Amino acid sequence: MEYIKGIENVSFDAILALYNSVGWSAYTNKPDSLREALNNSTYIVICMDEEELVGLARSISDDVSIHYLQDILVNPLYHRKGIGRKLLEKCLLRFEHVRTHMILTDNEKKQKIFYESLGFKNCSELKETALNTFVRMRGVDLK
Ligand SMILES: CC(C)(COP(=O)(O)OP(=O)(O)OC[C@H]1O[C@@H](n2cnc3c(N)ncnc32)[C@H](O)[C@@H]1OP(=O)(O)O)[C@@H](O)C(=O)NCCC(=O)NCCS
Repeated sequence: MEYIKGIENVSFDAILALYNSVGWSAYTNKPDSLREALNNSTYIVICMDEEELVGLARSISDDVSIHYLQDILVNPLYHRKGIGRKLLEKCLLRFEHVRTHMILTDNEKKQKIFYESLGFKNCSELKETALNTFVRMRGVDLK
C-alpha cells in the first residue's frame, strides 16, 4: 500500500467509485459538489494498492486551532487491514500542531471503536471536562 498526499495522481472517476463503494450517495449524487469539496479541502491523503485507489481521508483546518476530519473512507474490500488507521494518522500528523481535532460521524459501534482507538473521545461521555458539541445541518431535522 502506498499513501500519497493529494489527489493529482488519481482520476475523479476513481474517487467517485471509492465514495460509491461505501454508499455515500449524498456525495455521489452530486459529483460537482464532491469535486468542489475536494478542491476546497485543506489536506487530502489517499491510499493506493498499486494502480487502484482504495482509501481517502480529507481534512479542513485553519492550521492553528481546529482540524476537522470531514471524510475518511476505505473500499470495503480492504477493511480491517489498518488502512483507515494509517490515513487518520497521516491527517493527525499533518495537523499535530493544532489544538482541537474533531469528527462528526455515524452513531455506530464500529466508528466508536475506530475513533476511540485513535485517541478521540465522545464529548457526551466526558465526565471531568466542561466540553460539549453542538451540530446544525441544512435540510436535516435533528431530533
Ligand atoms: C471507518 C473505516 C474508515 C475504517 O477503515 P479500516 O481500514 O477498515 O480500519 P482499520 O483496519 O484501520 O481499523 C482500525 C481499528 O478500528 C477499529 N475498527 C475498524 N472497523 C471496525 C469494525 N467494523 N468493527 C469494530 N472495530 C472496527 C478496530 O479497533 C481496528 O483495529 P483492529 O483491526 O486492529 O481491531 C471504514 O470502516 C470505512 O470506510 N467505513 C465506511 C465509511 C465510514 O463510515 N467512514 C467513517 C465516517 S466519516
